[in-house]
Amino acid sequence: MNHKFPDRFLWGTAASGPQLEGAGSVGGKAMTVWDYWFLLEPEKFYQKIGPEVTSNFYDQYKEDILLMKDAGFNSFRTSISWARLLPDGKTINEEAVFFYRDVFTSLRENGIEPIVNLYHFDMPYRLYFKGGWENPEVVEEFKEYAQVSFDCFGDLVSRWVTFNEPIVPIEMGYLNDKHLPAVHNMTRAMQAGYYTLLAHVKAVSAFRQSKQQGEIGIILNLTPSYPKSDRDEDKKAANWADVLFNRSFLDPVVLGHYPAEIKELIQNENIDIQYTEKELDLIKNNTVDFLGVNYYQPRRVQASRNEQVDSEKILEKYFQPYEWPKAKMNPHRGWEIYEKGLYDIAINIRDNYFNIPWYVAENGMGVEGEEKFMNESGEVQDNYRIEFMEDHLTWLHKGISEGSNCFGYHVWTFLDNWSWLNEYKNRYGLFRLELETQERVKKKSAYWFKQLAKTNQLPT
Ligand code: BG6
Repeated sequence: MNHKFPDRFLWGTAASGPQLEGAGSVGGKAMTVWDYWFLLEPEKFYQKIGPEVTSNFYDQYKEDILLMKDAGFNSFRTSISWARLLPDGKTINEEAVFFYRDVFTSLRENGIEPIVNLYHFDMPYRLYFKGGWENPEVVEEFKEYAQVSFDCFGDLVSRWVTFNEPIVPIEMGYLNDKHLPAVHNMTRAMQAGYYTLLAHVKAVSAFRQSKQQGEIGIILNLTPSYPKSDRDEDKKAANWADVLFNRSFLDPVVLGHYPAEIKELIQNENIDIQYTEKELDLIKNNTVDFLGVNYYQPRRVQASRNEQVDSEKILEKYFQPYEWPKAKMNPHRGWEIYEKGLYDIAINIRDNYFNIPWYVAENGMGVEGEEKFMNESGEVQDNYRIEFMEDHLTWLHKGISEGSNCFGYHVWTFLDNWSWLNEYKNRYGLFRLELETQERVKKKSAYWFKQLAKTNQLPT
């Protein structure tokens, strides 16, 4: 079968400001919550490598953009650092404006479209101390920051994104201890989630009111939920996982309202959320132009066996994870590889979300110890990564050929990068980064990707 993709398909790479730039304390950037956390508890970070240790995109962006061009990318989705652009929340940092304008201009000059995201987990430290997403003042500050970004870069950007994976800081920070504030509290989680959504819609509304050119969307990490069996209890559990981890953002951003089950949960558990009818109207009237989807793994779910759980673990009443014996695992990251999940997402968007234009904003394979796959000339022979992309793209192609409106695929990522709590443990790049020398070395997958982008089809 011919696996040709639509004309003008975006063959891109994804990354984020905080994971690439470095220059944490130069160029006028203020501290983020990650800089702060590393100072406080460096042992929480793999091999105690903090957010300063990057591939120095801040200084080397021109060379890196040439690498992207060399691998055939025609799109790059990345993010602006809030703490760099508005270090004190009010004064625009002209060095940051110069930097980002030059990045976006250089990308365009090299035939690469910038897709620009405003928030990738990097809460400015001063706002974290105001309560972060639990404080409505932070929502207002985000709206101001979004407006400044549109004003400074609107002539160079035609696709804007408000948030990357907004559920992740909620899940990891309020139901887990992997992001700050590292607490287990369902009420705080739901309030912070609600205000994150509100920040998103206020930015969308500001974008529309100031008549910016181009389009605005959001990036969600969708994890299709599959029940252990056809039993009603398991199906119900899978529905709860879907509602909480996918539809809690997907429905309001595309359909303009929350799923009914969210209201049910709030009532069942007596969760007290601050909201107004006016805000719900704002949500209704500011749906997105397009959707970005990060896809790495599905969620396997079974009915809960505990009715009695303590208040910190309310979700365990609704569903529990299930280890599918047939799962193909990425042994390095511990995530299941289930390529068909991408097809299921494509069909879900087609059938239940107005067939809204969408693109794969991240998909990729993190592998530990890639040096053992190097050939004599030092090139990583990452056949496993090529296979990973090819298999996902085969299912994506099927979704597109059945009518799903997908306009691009972005691999995470072009160059091995720093990542939150995993740092450089799992490498994702199509280029290897030698941390000590900062050398960039092409992997086999970069050659493969170039051919894919050039021909706009999977190899036969
Ligand atoms: C995505 C995030 O969910 O996963 C990225 O948007 C992150 O920021 C990527 O780097 C890979 O995560 P990890 O933990 O395997 O390095």
